[in-house]
Amino acid sequence: MFKLLKYLKWQEWLLVILTLGILGAHAYCNLLLPEYTGQILGYLGQADFTTHWNDILWTALMMLITIVGIIICIITVGFLSAYLTTNLLARVRGKLFKNISNFSMAEINKFSIASLVTRSTNDISQVQQVYSLILGIGITAPLTAIIAIFKVVNISAKLSIVNVVSIVLLLSAVTLIFALVIPKFKTIQKNTDKINLLTRENLTGLRVVRAYSAEQAQEAKFEVTNKYATKVDIFVNRVFALIDPFISIIMQGTSLAIVWVAYYLMGGNGEIIALIGEFSQYSMQIIMGFMTISILFMMIPRGMVSANRINEVLKEKSSIIDGNYAGEEENPENKKGSVVFENVCFKYPGAHEYVLEDISFEAKPGQTVAFIGSTGSGKSTLINLIPRFYDCSEGKVLVDGVDVKEYKLSHLHDKLGYVPQKGVLFSGSVESNIKYGAENATAEEVEKAIETSESGFVNKLDDGLEHYISQGGKNVSGGQKQRLSIARAIVKKPEIFIFDDSFSALDYKTDKSLRRKLKKYMGNATCLIVAQRIGTIINADKIIVLDEGKIVGVGKHKDLLKNCQVYKEIALSQLSEEELAK
Ligand SMILES: Nc1ncnc2c1ncn2[C@@H]1O[C@H](COP(=O)(O)OP(=O)(O)OP(=O)(O)O)[C@@H](O)[C@H]1O
Ligand SMILES: [Mg+2]
Repeated sequence: MFKLLKYLKWQEWLLVILTLGILGAHAYCNLLLPEYTGQILGYLGQADFTTHWNDILWTALMMLITIVGIIICIITVGFLSAYLTTNLLARVRGKLFKNISNFSMAEINKFSIASLVTRSTNDISQVQQVYSLILGIGITAPLTAIIAIFKVVNISAKLSIVNVVSIVLLLSAVTLIFALVIPKFKTIQKNTDKINLLTRENLTGLRVVRAYSAEQAQEAKFEVTNKYATKVDIFVNRVFALIDPFISIIMQGTSLAIVWVAYYLMGGNGEIIALIGEFSQYSMQIIMGFMTISILFMMIPRGMVSANRINEVLKEKSSIIDGNYAGEEENPENKKGSVVFENVCFKYPGAHEYVLEDISFEAKPGQTVAFIGSTGSGKSTLINLIPRFYDCSEGKVLVDGVDVKEYKLSHLHDKLGYVPQKGVLFSGSVESNIKYGAENATAEEVEKAIETSESGFVNKLDDGLEHYISQGGKNVSGGQKQRLSIARAIVKKPEIFIFDDSFSALDYKTDKSLRRKLKKYMGNATCLIVAQRIGTIINADKIIVLDEGKIVGVGKHKDLLKNCQVYKEIALSQLSEEELAK
């Protein structure tokens, strides 16, 4: 948990030192109070106490000042601790976000999105609470207790035995509670992950849930997790609830025992009796101190579980290591945009089976290369290797003659205009979505991209480019989302376009007209298109037919019709004999 402290700035360390100083002062003031009580009791115990009024009043005033001091300490520490913990944890959250943003799909799958969300929110709050607790009571109370121990021993070693007994009782109970509760903390955080996952799944799939009247099944699934989470929570809280009465019993018991021991065992010695008040107060401080230590010992493991979960994410480095090549040897005069696969094999992290086997092909600058194959044949996987969403297990992927692993990722991504299979939009205006990869694009360029991508519907909206896209692009249709995603790639003016089945949600007419405009617009750009429809790729310079992760045919439409059985079957299922004969 303390590893996270490295994210404190040096100025904040000064504030930490200041806070510790104030906490020390707080402990000192705490210890003054019993002393004053002892003094007042001492005066009152004397037969002629009326002659000591002035001393009594003076001591009472000092007590009052000390109490005001304590209040000031508590308030200042409250402010400082809130400032320090919120700032520190906000910074850790920022680091988490940054690290997660760099994760490749492999790391995201490893943790799961739900768990990453819990770790960035709930776990952070847990750690923050524990830090606040430590600064709030975790230092003053134990410090007061330790010094109080010396004081009571000083007052009466015999009477201190009472304290030894109460501390032993307290610690035994705490150890028992400890053993019961600590193993549950990990479970609690895992349950939070699960609840998060189910809630997300339920909300994102709400329409399907409704359409299949599966609300009850979903609720039942949720109920199981929720009940289990509640059970663990109740258990932990019940065990915690034992602490309070137990502490009260010990405190009351100690008070009684002090009086009893003083009167009966030590013969009610007058001097001792005068000190009982002071002694009792110190004893309470000792018990409170040990109680605080106990609570801390229970809360710190909880914070540690969360801190470890945060550290796991912070420590995790993306398996996609950034290269150094930033295009130093690139000649702007050269035609750029070549993509070459050399004997590429790929299997997903943790999987046994290869999804791609021995894939080799070349897309020359300016060429249009299309990929077709049945669903699950590995088309998306193949093109995801170019932007390095995953790295190939064997073989090489070269862009402009350089292995993608050697590129600086930002440079590699600058070359690519990637349009995913499912259009992805972010909350914000239409314009911000289109200019996502090219902030400096001019109004004309945006207009041109809208025109080329057949996104004319934008101009019909009342607020046009300012139209607000809600989270996940829920307020535009699937086809509109795809077209805006295409516009986003166009504005970027990349060397290489990658369309992963990006025309699937478009009607035939729009698809055709979009491709015609794209062809005109793209000029020298290379174009890699994954498609299901033969019509989309019929004019490609090269068509690569995939089947179960292997290339089973390469060539132009006409050649493939003759030579490639898989291609012919796909074509026959979509086009009539006459269309094929054309
Ligand atoms: N993240 C993943 N982890 C493990 N296996 C995966 C993952 N994504 C895809 N696969 C597997 O890899 C294979 C190829 O999937 P891929 O998405 O590349 O197919 P595709 O050809 O794009 O299919 P479609 O036409 O349906 O989009 C499938 O068998 C799939 O089960
Ligand atoms: Mg796919």
